[in-house]
Amino acid sequence: MTLASAKLKIQTLRDQIRDHDYNYYVLDQPKVSDHDYDNLFAELTKLETENPKLITPDSPTQRIASIAASAFEKIAHRNPMLSLSNSYSPEDILAFKDRALKFLDRDEDFEFYCEPKFDGLAMELIYENGLLTGALTRGDGTVGENVLSNVRTIRSIPLKLQGPKPPLLIEIRGEILMLKKDFKKLNESQQEAGELPFANPRNAAAGTIRQLDPKITAKRPLKFFAYSLGAFNGITFDSQHQLTKKFAEWGFSVVSQIDKRLAHVVKNSDQAVEYYHLIEKLRPKLAFDIDGIVVKIDNFELQDRLGFVARNPRWATAAKFAPEQGTTLVREIAIQVGRTGALTPVAIMEPVRVGGVSITHATLHNQEEITRKDVRVGDTVVIQRAGDVIPEVVRVVLEKRPKNSEPFEIPPKCPVCGQPATQLKDEVILRCTNLVCPAVLKESLKHFVARRAMNIEKLGDRLIEIFVENGLIKSFSDIYRLTEKEILALDRQGEKSAENLLMAIEKSKATTLARFIFGLGIRFVGEQTAKSIASHFENIETLEAATHDELLLVEDIGPKVAESITRAFENPKLKKEIAALQKLGVEISNKKSAAMSSSAFKGKKFVITGTLPRGRNEVKELIERNGGLVLSAVSKKADFVLAGEEAGSKLDKAQELGVAVLDWDQFQKML
Ligand code: IVH
Repeated sequence: MTLASAKLKIQTLRDQIRDHDYNYYVLDQPKVSDHDYDNLFAELTKLETENPKLITPDSPTQRIASIAASAFEKIAHRNPMLSLSNSYSPEDILAFKDRALKFLDRDEDFEFYCEPKFDGLAMELIYENGLLTGALTRGDGTVGENVLSNVRTIRSIPLKLQGPKPPLLIEIRGEILMLKKDFKKLNESQQEAGELPFANPRNAAAGTIRQLDPKITAKRPLKFFAYSLGAFNGITFDSQHQLTKKFAEWGFSVVSQIDKRLAHVVKNSDQAVEYYHLIEKLRPKLAFDIDGIVVKIDNFELQDRLGFVARNPRWATAAKFAPEQGTTLVREIAIQVGRTGALTPVAIMEPVRVGGVSITHATLHNQEEITRKDVRVGDTVVIQRAGDVIPEVVRVVLEKRPKNSEPFEIPPKCPVCGQPATQLKDEVILRCTNLVCPAVLKESLKHFVARRAMNIEKLGDRLIEIFVENGLIKSFSDIYRLTEKEILALDRQGEKSAENLLMAIEKSKATTLARFIFGLGIRFVGEQTAKSIASHFENIETLEAATHDELLLVEDIGPKVAESITRAFENPKLKKEIAALQKLGVEISNKKSAAMSSSAFKGKKFVITGTLPRGRNEVKELIERNGGLVLSAVSKKADFVLAGEEAGSKLDKAQELGVAVLDWDQFQKML
């Protein structure tokens, strides 16, 4: 293919992919299957790899930078990012309108553009000649931080404005947020990995945007909704509703795309009050958190005349919703022991109804949090349901504090086994590090048998607790040693249920490498990471033997995870357990490796030289898995020299000896 035709093809592919991204991520209406999309993407990646000179920063392949930042650059906003006056009562919209009328010396009510007040974090996207060149957080309103490398990973944000004739400069402001469903998933995997969950979607979005490694950000789905402007040059607008239309044309998400009722022009301030009540009703059904509404005088000429007072516009205001809160009494602060030994303080309270659900438990996260909020046993607290999931303590009602109360300190020992708890470096939480702590054992077992791990259907939480308390199960492998007699000896276990349990245990013996690895409950190895590991290693033995550096070759694995895995396998008990499980009949199959292994290279000898798209070890493993052998020096014995970029003397030698030379593409074709 000539350079010119490659360029043309690349252009077409990019346009197609951008279009599909827009349909999928902005409009939520995919037009092609994932498979077709992946094919287009692979084709573009291939063409760009072959023609690296044609890669441009706005290509869909360039969203995720591979290099982590060490800090974010501070940049001054061209126009300060201000805030909105706000109140909790919709009637204040009428008072706001009266002030604006008075300022303008006018008596005719306004048309307002009404939209939800998003509960995320404000972001300013800078486009120069249509290209995304900066993304600033609000910061203190005057100076923000440039988080462009993270923002580029958000697929609903165009890297290039859609449509012809982009303005010289336009700064588009809006809100970054995480959908409630994505928040729930993220917290599940945080917990799986032994990490602290985020308190609410806003914190999760903020934490994600401040990640120094864009690869992590890319894995956590964020959304952006556009709603206002910073500086601009080379374009004019008449009204908020016209601006919103333009946002959509440029390829941004705006809320009216989800449902017309969510954002539109109303004829007067009474209708703005009605809008408030409607949105308050729709709020629980929305896919993301909002905390009120924003009403903006629609006409930009009027906005300009109104200007600002202090740090608030005179042309817009926010009316907030009462948060879903309740007040109740803390009876006790209990300490829960997690699978990884993490000690988590939990407030146990008098039941209270919040948002239609009765609540008795709220997480207090860690000592820092308890100290900051100064929550004590006997306190009356305001609690709130965050992002519809974990209830949290908002604050203590100090006026109601009993006289003799004392600050709460987490006792520095495990509440179950009594062994001293330790605080690991870089962690805020305390952990029980007793390897045979019954609480840790119970939680590890619950995880091991869970649906997404070994999937032992009849072995529920309660039953595990009974088995552990009766000393019948002390390790994973003990599950496979259970006998009918032992089960029957336990309370309330009939013959039928014992039989069912044994059958479920038997069935679980045929498992996959990914499930097995996940089930081991190694810190930081959640379901996704376990899958990546399983598609990299052939079997559990090669994983056990893997070095830190070899683990780093696995997609998704960084130094922290690699370290945790090597640590886990340094423990001889774990290796012994795995061997015992296999001896008891657990069969760990790995479809991936079966599919990936072949005899394509049977008996063939390779020499590797130069820089290849994959790591040395990985390529070596690939060759060996397919029946080949890797030699370290070129000689007549070698069948092939696999030459990457900047191949040196080995390549010369191969040519001299007449050994066949393969480049990466030819090598892959052979596979
Ligand atoms: S317009 C002068 N529209 O609220 C500021 N802001 O208190 C004009 N916000 O920092 C901003 N939803 O993060 C606007 N639909 C919306 C909004 C919205 C949320 C946030 C924004 C801003 C804060 C102002």
